[in-house]
Amino acid sequence: MEFLSELNIRPMTAGDVNAIVEIDLKVIGKSRPDYWKKMVPENPQHPFLSLVAEVEGKVIGFVLGEVSGWEFGVPDTIGWLSIIGVDPDHQHKGVARRLSQEFVKNLKAMNVGVIYTLVNWNDWDLLKFYKAMGFTRGGDMINLELKID
Ligand SMILES: CC(C)(COP(=O)(O)OP(=O)(O)OC[C@H]1O[C@@H](n2cnc3c(N)ncnc32)[C@H](O)[C@@H]1OP(=O)(O)O)[C@@H](O)C(=O)NCCC(=O)NCCS
Repeated sequence: MEFLSELNIRPMTAGDVNAIVEIDLKVIGKSRPDYWKKMVPENPQHPFLSLVAEVEGKVIGFVLGEVSGWEFGVPDTIGWLSIIGVDPDHQHKGVARRLSQEFVKNLKAMNVGVIYTLVNWNDWDLLKFYKAMGFTRGGDMINLELKID
């Protein structure tokens, strides 16, 4: 497997929106600029919660996260890995691994003890990726849903 040695991981900025829209388009086949403009904050809660991976200045992957409670120093500070995505032309080269390792390191530095994420049961690639990153099936939290149509 080819690895990207020159991969740079840095905090996401509002200027990364277009690159993220492009990656999202390649992954899901839909262009969602308005959605991503909302998702990528102008003034992030914490600069190290959402990261991008770039090679030679081109953004090829990203992770978007949140932390609840950290600003109050509460003991049950929890992190959320909301979305991770890698440009299909650069998948299987360890990009998401580097992004998630950096993400976990940053959250640990914020005293986060547990990180949650939600994955569609049918999304095997993502499930395998999270398993490889050490995520396991959660115990105390379950998702509930109410169908309203
Ligand atoms: C899941 C995803 C993030 C993985 O990114 P990636 O950079 O290719 O992953 P990595 O190369 O860092 O893989 C790390 C480990 O995860 C596992 N893994 C990753 N992708 C996998 C796959 N498709 N099948 C099985 N295992 C996989 C492997 O164990 C891998 O380690 P290894 O290569 O040493 O065996 C990427 O496929 C993706 O972006 N998928 C779409 C996710 C999505 O829908 N995001 C929202 C819209 S952008």
